[in-house]
Amino acid sequence: MTRYESVIESIGGTPLVRVHRLAAGLHPRVYVKLEHQNPGGSVKDRAALSMIRAAERDGSLRPGGTVVEVTSGNTGVGLALVGAHLGYRAVIFTSSRIAVEKIRLLRAYGADVRLVDAFVPKGHPDSLGAAADRFVDETPGAWRADQYDNPANPAAHVGSTGPEIWADTEGAVTHFVASVGTGGTISGTGRALKALSDGAVRVIAADPFGSSYSGGDGSPKYVEGAGHTVHPEAEEDVWPRSFDLAAVDEYITVDDREAIFTARRAAREEGLLLGGSAGTALAAALRLAERLGPDDVIVALAPDSGRNALSTYYDDEWLADRGFVIEQSEVPTLEGLVDEPAPRVGLHLTVAEAVARLDERETDAAAPVLAVYRRADHEAPIPALDVAGLVTLDGLRRALESGFGEDLVRAHIVAAPPTVGIGRTADAALAALDASQGSWTAASVLRDGRIVGVTTRETLVAHAARAGRLAVAR
Ligand SMILES: Cc1ncc(COP(=O)(O)O)c(C=O)c1O
Repeated sequence: MTRYESVIESIGGTPLVRVHRLAAGLHPRVYVKLEHQNPGGSVKDRAALSMIRAAERDGSLRPGGTVVEVTSGNTGVGLALVGAHLGYRAVIFTSSRIAVEKIRLLRAYGADVRLVDAFVPKGHPDSLGAAADRFVDETPGAWRADQYDNPANPAAHVGSTGPEIWADTEGAVTHFVASVGTGGTISGTGRALKALSDGAVRVIAADPFGSSYSGGDGSPKYVEGAGHTVHPEAEEDVWPRSFDLAAVDEYITVDDREAIFTARRAAREEGLLLGGSAGTALAAALRLAERLGPDDVIVALAPDSGRNALSTYYDDEWLADRGFVIEQSEVPTLEGLVDEPAPRVGLHLTVAEAVARLDERETDAAAPVLAVYRRADHEAPIPALDVAGLVTLDGLRRALESGFGEDLVRAHIVAAPPTVGIGRTADAALAALDASQGSWTAASVLRDGRIVGVTTRETLVAHAARAGRLAVAR
């Protein structure tokens, strides 16, 4: 046992644990570094301590001051924990879409949590960042940690995470795998491991599908903390200064399904309860291991625990609602009822352009069509957050005939449809949609978190009724 004289001293020094069943048949040794064993439960305790200490040194944070940050949770916990110990108040701005456990955790440490529910581009006056900046301007003694652009964030890992991995593998580590949020972890740890190994350690970024770091379109994903999303109406994609691109040798892309199911397997088959971004990193490490040999040693960093995700990735109903099918159903599901791909049209088109586009694609005139922020010209599934509302070709034609041809599609939409998972039966889908929405005519059908098709209330009622009649007849 190690003894510490304060909670702050107990930050870092997390264990490496070898993965066995998930790595069966693979040649390298694969370890995860369990950052949830930090006192605040995540890797972010390291960055929080480092940023607060640097701010004290340069005078931007003084005794009795207020620590302010925009965060999806973990950095907030780290800042609140270190702040509580050192006597600073913590005010955390976060999205109301984050897991409820994370909000409660922040409040448990005494943080003042400000929920901002705005789906707006960075720099917009309603954005989280703008709200935090306004608060700092109006509050004497307030200092914003700014993990995305603060050099003390990656520096935390140069001094601790990297050397720990080197020492605990006795210099045998050959590959380091981590997800990238602010980039602090991968940049600092990667830089340290490269320096200690004379450049031999390869650094691999495990990036969620869609993240712009690995060349995706920046569309939203479920795994929190990892990757970079870009608001569809953002003018530019600004990357954090904490992320040193030169530290990364290779990117491996992991979609939500692979990340979530890798984390679930780790819990059930290894006894390791991992968060979603840890699932992303471990999934990438296992894929990497397939092409490496017995002398290779892979370390995947697990930023936090699955305790933050008990009501999301570890909840079967949450998964079913989003179309993450766990087991194929023996009874008929929506699988056979949706026309894939979902018909869609760009919000930014004029009504006249949209009518021409939909005619060209021979779209059914009465069918609900998704009005989307971006990417209307390909067939890949899209995230629900990228849908602004619904139109029909009939409706747009009427608008065109009434002289509104030069209007943008966005002026003619009705509210975005509710969503339902593709593994649901028609009866279950109807029941869930009726319970959540007063009146609805169409619903987006999700597979693995993305919209694959649109169904209507009429279709579901017809199939639910038929299923009922068949059941009675039998
Ligand atoms: C759960 C989780 N995973 C991964 C990361 C990414 O770490 P970093 O910001 O150091 O790149 C974060 C950062 O917020 C996180 O909260």
